[in-house]
Amino acid sequence: MEQQFEGKIAIITGAASGIGYTVAHHLASRGARVIGVDLSESVVALMAELPGKGHHGIARNLTEPEAASEIVAEAIRVAGTPHILINSAGVALLDPAVDVPAARWQATIDINLSASFYMAQAAGRVMVEAGYGRIINLASQAAVIGLDQHAAYCASKAAIIGLTHVLSLEWAPRGVTVNAVSPTVVETPLGKKAWAGEKGEKAKREIPVGRFAQPEEVASLIGYLASGDAAMITGSNVLIDGGFTTV
Ligand SMILES: NC(=O)c1ccc[n+]([C@@H]2O[C@H](COP(=O)([O-])OP(=O)(O)OC[C@H]3O[C@@H](n4cnc5c(N)ncnc54)[C@H](O)[C@@H]3O)[C@@H](O)[C@H]2O)c1
Repeated sequence: MEQQFEGKIAIITGAASGIGYTVAHHLASRGARVIGVDLSESVVALMAELPGKGHHGIARNLTEPEAASEIVAEAIRVAGTPHILINSAGVALLDPAVDVPAARWQATIDINLSASFYMAQAAGRVMVEAGYGRIINLASQAAVIGLDQHAAYCASKAAIIGLTHVLSLEWAPRGVTVNAVSPTVVETPLGKKAWAGEKGEKAKREIPVGRFAQPEEVASLIGYLASGDAAMITGSNVLIDGGFTTV
């Protein structure tokens, strides 16, 4: 694979699983140095085993108030100023709207929205100073359509799009692009749990391409948006949904 990310430093949240791990592997294979962050301790070993050298895992709960600034400081200390941030850490806690417990609402907003903002803010500060950056936020098809039992999830992901708009316009003049990526169901631990059984089979039939997405397909799109070639794309929400939200 083309070594397009040689010399680039990428912070990736949610790097121990699913899309985050797959993006970490994709960017590392293309020459990037990856700083992976996850709640799971396994992130330390997983980052050490990525292709190439100098990767670093940080086991951290991103909902802690000081997490974002300390993670960016650690990334700078071990590797240098980050060029790329991928906000992939997230949860899907599903409840009928009338039953959503306050704790599950808050937990969803804390990780899916607030942690993404604080990471973008902390990384954005140094990227703006350096005059270069690529920030990609995982939103979802749930950001643009309603889904049964997804009140907290849809709200958190729709807000990611609003956040992406503001950051992109504030930071575009300083060389930092900010985009969102919105997949349909992706076959990761999160996707498989939320869409198991007949519910999932029905959803597949409603997707024009007739299947769910693979993490590698999402990583490939993110790889493009994270590259120098994507300098003219900012403030976008790029759907990767097999046509689902357009039918
Ligand atoms: N899989 C899908 O169907 C799908 C579809 C659209 C969007 N997304 C979004 O893509 C992103 C990644 O999803 P995935 O399918 O790879 O999920 P996943 O469950 O496989 O991985 C998410 C990772 O985030 C980590 N994480 C969760 N809370 C954290 C916290 N407080 N601090 C640090 N790390 C934390 C988890 O430990 C896990 O390793 C999420 O934002 C999700 O909402 C997923």
